[in-house]
Amino acid sequence: MKLKDKVAVITGAGSGLGRAIALRFAEEGARIVIAELNEAKGEETLREVQAKGVEAFAVPTDVSSSDAVSNLFKAIDDRGWPIDVMVNNAGNAGQLTPVHLMTDEQWHGVVHVHLSGTFYGTREAVKRMLAQGRGGAVINMSSVAALRGLPGGSSYTAAKGGILSFTKGVAQEYAAQGIRVNCIAPGWVETPILENLPDEIRPMMVANTPLGRIGQPEEIAAVALFLASDESSYVIGQTISPNGGLHT
Ligand SMILES: NC(=O)c1ccc[n+]([C@@H]2O[C@H](COP(=O)([O-])OP(=O)(O)OC[C@H]3O[C@@H](n4cnc5c(N)ncnc54)[C@H](O)[C@@H]3O)[C@@H](O)[C@H]2O)c1
Repeated sequence: MKLKDKVAVITGAGSGLGRAIALRFAEEGARIVIAELNEAKGEETLREVQAKGVEAFAVPTDVSSSDAVSNLFKAIDDRGWPIDVMVNNAGNAGQLTPVHLMTDEQWHGVVHVHLSGTFYGTREAVKRMLAQGRGGAVINMSSVAALRGLPGGSSYTAAKGGILSFTKGVAQEYAAQGIRVNCIAPGWVETPILENLPDEIRPMMVANTPLGRIGQPEEIAAVALFLASDESSYVIGQTISPNGGLHT
């Protein structure tokens, strides 16, 4: 088991990629903390994770709120659990809107959840990893949108680009302490987030992906497992983009 006795905090674990990562990490022996905005979905993943025989709990959390993220980590401290792996994954697609029509609310709604949420989660996790003195792994969820742009999704593209650059800088801050910060930039993956996009985009997703299909959440969870485990001990500040060839 690659994560035996490690504790992994996963934001947005109630659905899609976060859920798949939580289940995969549980199969590898990790204790799981589910930080999810949607309480019912978080509880559902919690039951699935517990069914794999590992300890876990869920804390309803809005990652765009600094206070909520502090409370999440206080709840973990109260349990006496350390933190070995932090996965900043929670996100929403927002609505595709050309930039000249985008409102302040639409902009901030996406940027705060993705970029500020990643900052809040990283800050709290790294504080604890430093105090523990045995390193750790931070995995941030960017997107292929950061690498090639998503027309109509300027706030999403900017937030995901910010996450990618944030990862590079922070990775250098803590490499010497054995805290490895890396980033995943998936292409199109079959999760509920795609339901927010117009139907006519789907054929385009497949047509633009040389592998000829949309990815499955488990294929992203496999990359997250690599970055969380000692298998990636020399990997720092990198972006891995599982994308079926959409961007090379
Ligand atoms: N699916 C894709 O094609 C794809 C591609 C690239 C990147 N991503 C990124 O992967 C991450 C996960 O997306 P997904 O595809 O699994 O989508 P999803 O909608 O299936 O899951 C996202 C989860 O995040 C939760 N969430 C949303 N806002 C939150 C908040 N403020 N606080 C806490 N939780 C919140 C949602 O309730 C949901 O459970 C996102 O950051 C997304 O941008 C997805």
